[in-house]
Amino acid sequence: MQTFTPREIVSELDRYIIGQNKAKRAVAIALRNRWRRMRVPEELKDEIAPKNIIMIGPTGVGKTEIARRLAKLSQAPFLKVEASKFTEVGYVGRDVESMIRDLVELSVNMVKEEEMENVKVKADELAEERILDLLLPRRVTPDEQPEPKFPPTDSNVLDFDRAKTGRHDIPGNEAEILQPKVEDTDTYDKTREKLKKLLREGKLDERPLEIETREKNTPMVEIFSASGIEEMDINIKDMFGNLFPGKTKTKKVLVKDARNIIATEEAQRLVDMDKVVSLAVKKVEETGIIFLDEIDKIAGRESAHGPDVSREGVQRDILPIVEGSSINTKYGIVKTDHILFIAAGAFHVSKPSDLIPELQGRFPLRVELDSLDKDDFVKILTEPKNALVTQYVALMETETVTLEFKKDAIDEIAQMAAQVNERSENIGARRLHTILEKLLDEISFKAPELSKKKIKIDRAYVQEKLKDIVEDQDLSKYIL
Ligand SMILES: Nc1ncnc2c1ncn2[C@@H]1O[C@H](COP(=O)(O)OP(=O)(O)OP(=O)(O)O)[C@@H](O)[C@H]1O
Ligand SMILES: [Mg+2]
Repeated sequence: MQTFTPREIVSELDRYIIGQNKAKRAVAIALRNRWRRMRVPEELKDEIAPKNIIMIGPTGVGKTEIARRLAKLSQAPFLKVEASKFTEVGYVGRDVESMIRDLVELSVNMVKEEEMENVKVKADELAEERILDLLLPRRVTPDEQPEPKFPPTDSNVLDFDRAKTGRHDIPGNEAEILQPKVEDTDTYDKTREKLKKLLREGKLDERPLEIETREKNTPMVEIFSASGIEEMDINIKDMFGNLFPGKTKTKKVLVKDARNIIATEEAQRLVDMDKVVSLAVKKVEETGIIFLDEIDKIAGRESAHGPDVSREGVQRDILPIVEGSSINTKYGIVKTDHILFIAAGAFHVSKPSDLIPELQGRFPLRVELDSLDKDDFVKILTEPKNALVTQYVALMETETVTLEFKKDAIDEIAQMAAQVNERSENIGARRLHTILEKLLDEISFKAPELSKKKIKIDRAYVQEKLKDIVEDQDLSKYIL
């Protein structure tokens, strides 16, 4: 489980998101509280409910971005869903419980990955042995013939005679070592040792090898996941899964790739799935985080009709999950009491108070995100690790065009973005994307012809390209 302190979480978020300190603090505290709860005496532990958060802020100011970065940091099962995707029970769409099922699925994969990492050394060893088996099949007397797991195909077996005459793609003098009479177990073992050495040194890497892999065969059965039926969906999959067990398929690959493929297969075999599942469910129950984006889209009360009809219904469906209930998943029952929910929404039209009161009560923390101004834009353009300007420079680099943004150009772009946001609609940092795209339109198109050139972008260039559009309100509504 994560050991980041709130300060560390905030500073990690700072690398990607400019400003929005209140929101960063709130999520950092919430994350740390999970860690704290795990250390509280058992009797109290169950009583401590997560402090769910609503992030409120205009569009394009970093709500979703905070969630995305938090997901990477949290090292906990983290699911981001759009609340608008759900519909009330009985309507077509996803039922709300599917978010818990998805979260568990995610957690299972996460834990499985970890467990596979734990058995990696063993799996690598086994893979090595299996490749050696393929290259140099054991000769066994007929009565002790074991069931060959991966019967050697002829093309794999090292042909020692051919190797000797140099017609094989084994490095010449190494081939000399590989010419024992295989009947003799003593020599067999020695040869195997030598082959193993070659394999470890990577000398056999480029050799083609035929291996058998088991293909996962889940027939494509897509069933509408209206509640109730989804459960059936699972059973049908299991049923078919048994009907058509994975086919084996022979593949020709290089030894180096075969090693990875077989090692993964072995690792999967070594992992105890029962343990994985129980760990994964526990992980969800204790550390799971669900980010409910676009929550404002389901705010709004009964009175509405048409597409609005199911909004309140969705809220009512979500409520028990947020409050804590037991959800049936294919990995068993999952309790949602301690899952942390972070909701976010622009709340342009609706307000948090338009949510049903019960739901409001389950989100005690409200943080507002600030709208972004020119100074923020300057920073967003240049500071984050993945800053837009850095992205464009890297893109042009691939065409051997060197882009250089002057300071005054950045200033001008930020200024224009703020101006357009003010005059037409405020779409926050997304405005920078549209402006930059327009600004670099010509260079992007001509880049292949400009190779090896260095292009400086300064205030004059920005003004020349964009001034007319920005000044003309009607035009900028369409173009920027
Ligand atoms: N404070 C910020 N710092 C850095 N980049 C930002 C910031 N705010 C927004 N961006 C960038 O702007 C784009 C849109 O941001 P994001 O998706 O977070 O918006 P949002 O707040 O979720 O808006 P919406 O309400 O429309 O969903 C992203 O590419 C993001 O990188
Ligand atoms: Mg968003």
